[in-house]
This record gives sequence, C-alpha cells and structure tokens, in this order.
Amino acid sequence: LGSGPEVAVFSVPSYACQRRTTLENHNTVLTDALSLLAENAELSDEDGRGVAFRRAAAVLKALPSAVMSISQLSGLPCLGEHSLRVIKDIWENGASSEVESTKVSERFKALKVLTGIFGVGAKTADRWIREGIHDLHQLQNSGQTLNRAQQAGLQHYDDINQPVTKAEACAIEEIVEKAVSSVLPGAQIILTGGFRRGKQTGHDVDFLITHPEEGREVGLMPKVVSWLEAQGFLLYQKTTRNSYLESKADGPGRPPSNMDRFERCLSIFKLPKMEKQGAKDSQNVTENYRRWRAVRVDLVVSPISQFAFALLGWTGSKLFERELRRWARYEKGMSLSSHALYDNNQRKYLRASSEEEIFAHLGLEFIPPSERNA
Ligand code: GTP
Ligand code: MN
Ligand code: MN
Repeated sequence: LGSGPEVAVFSVPSYACQRRTTLENHNTVLTDALSLLAENAELSDEDGRGVAFRRAAAVLKALPSAVMSISQLSGLPCLGEHSLRVIKDIWENGASSEVESTKVSERFKALKVLTGIFGVGAKTADRWIREGIHDLHQLQNSGQTLNRAQQAGLQHYDDINQPVTKAEACAIEEIVEKAVSSVLPGAQIILTGGFRRGKQTGHDVDFLITHPEEGREVGLMPKVVSWLEAQGFLLYQKTTRNSYLESKADGPGRPPSNMDRFERCLSIFKLPKMEKQGAKDSQNVTENYRRWRAVRVDLVVSPISQFAFALLGWTGSKLFERELRRWARYEKGMSLSSHALYDNNQRKYLRASSEEEIFAHLGLEFIPPSERNA
C-alpha cells in the first residue's frame, strides 16, 4: 500500500452516465464486496442503501487501475462513510467483516435462494422466511400457493440460475428473428440488455422489437408469442401491456420512473441444446440428459417513434439508467423515460431517432453500450 508520488490521482465525474465504464474492472475485490452489500440491502427493502453501495462500486469500476492507497480515494465521488469503512477493512484485514458475516447469514442465503425463483421478489421471500421457509425443499413441503410464474420458476430453477452464454443468446436471437419475420415481414429485432453491452453471460436475454413504419408494430406481440408457442419454444410466458401496477405489487421493487407501458413479454424459452464438439460420441449420457434447457427471455415491442428511448432504456446497466434519469432531472430539468424525453422548462418533448441524439439533448458525451457497464 504505497503512497509515493508515483501513485496516480484519479478524477471521476460524479454521475455514472458521465463516465466510460468498460467490462475491464481493476478493482474486483472491492466492487464484489460493495455489490454484495448492495444486493443484501435491496433484498432487505433498503433501496437507499442499495443505491449508495451500487454508486460506490460503480466509481471503483470506472478507475483505470487498481487502487493502491487510501489517499487515492480522497477526491472520488459517491464513496460514503460506510463504503470507505468496508474498503479500509478489506485493506487492513484482507476481508470485510460485514461482507463475510452477510455471506454466511441464514437470512441472506435464504433470500438469495428464494428470489432465485423466477416470479419471487424480495417481499414474497421475506414473508416465506418469516413463516420458516428457507430453501426450495421447505417451500415445496409448505403447501404455499404459488402463482403460474413461480411454479414455472421452481420447475426450471437450476436452468434459470445457470448463466446464459453469448452463444445461447445468439441461438435465441435466431429463433426470435424467425418468429418476428414470419408474423410481420420488415419488423426488426435487436438484442439489448447486458449482451448489447458486450457481456459474455447474462441472467436472461433481452430483445427490443419494432417496425420502421409507425403503427405496424401494434398487436405484434401476441402474434410472435403464438408463433413461438406453436413451435414449442415456450415453457412459460406472460404478456403485459402495462407493467406498472403489477411490478409494484411484487418483484424487484423498481421505482415508478423505471416503469414503462410497452407491450412486453416475460418468458421462459425451451432452447434446444447445442451440440458440443464431440458430445455426440460421448459415453456420459445419463438418465437426466435433456436435449433442451430453460432460458429466461424478455421481449419488448416499441413503436419506431420511441425506439431510441426504448433502446437506451433497455440496454442498461441498471445503475447507468438510474443515473441518466437522475442527471436529466437534477442537472437539466428534464424527465427521461424509455418512451420519451420531456424538457420541463421548455415544456415540450424532445424528439430523437438515435441514442446519440438523446445524449446530445442531455448535454452528455455519447457513451457507447460497451462503456455503460456501471
Ligand atoms: P443480465 O440480464 O443479468 O445480464 O443484466 P441486464 O443488464 O441485461 O439486466 P436486465 O435484463 O434485468 O435488464 C436489462 C435492462 O432493461 C436494464 O437496463 C433495466 O434497467 C431494463 N429494464 C428491466 N425491466 C425494466 C422495466 O420494467 N422497464 C424499463 N424501462 N426498463 C427495464
Ligand atoms: Mn438481461
Ligand atoms: Mn431482462
């Protein structure tokens, strides 16, 4: 932990949307620790604390090299007292006692396992834990009534909790492309979410669908879903026109500002397994061998007039999105959503047909998707 004059002084702007955050992270030990505390706060209905830890982790992710001394942290934004204490603890003792005790706590472990079920949010998990349910076995024996999403989530638990690879995302893209072009020739689909930011794995696969002629996209989702269903690609799907009330009742508890009214479909795909090289001749074909795996897929349909906003809004990361909206509101007096940008002073909507135009309206340097990994 040298503090010689050769140690770089970092300068980082305070909003994540002003920074370039690639997937190359030089401070993973620190960011993993802060992210775990963020996750624990979010699962415990302490969103404020969760965001504070997420912001602190994001600042460290944006640094061009590993932090070597405490003096380098002094000029950095978003590092509150609590986050600094965690960082110091790791430096002085090799680990943070708070992180280590959270990791092994029965409550955190139970929250992780239960919210790992698709359709189960922090609130439901918390209620179950108070009723003595800490794992899947106890849940199955509890006689709790599960909704259709949760039943599917429990049934495909292992698959859904196994990261989706880029290759699997591409295979699903091909299927969705076929579905979309079959029901509406000329419609376009684009891979969004983490894969658009260059991630090699994800917890799901996200797609945005539109048509270059405004209005042609109306009614598209049910047709796409029917096609996929008829071809046997769907294990579960729920299409909603307005996600606002539903997501509020249960789920990750996003603030209303993040909600949109696009037609969207939350689904579980039945993806045929891709043959690995030489797998055909392999001897270890067990009774459990299946020719498919379950993958979470999100589909969103947007009219072309809102496409740039939808694309920006569904590319993430979640913190980057949150920071964009915060920047818009507090630095520019504007309201940004996945549908539009409204200027509160001029009292008018600002049009945009590309992400670049939206950044320009916001007075921000354009940050490409691969650098939005805050
Ligand atoms: P992994 O899936 O874990 O790889 O990460 P991801 O970044 O793809 O996360 P996720 O699939 O959860 O979300 C992708 C993007 O969609 C993120 O930027 C979210 O903020 C955004 N998103 C998710 N749900 C909603 C929603 O209901 N409304 C809007 N507008 N955006 C959403
Ligand atoms: Mn995703
Ligand atoms: Mn998603």
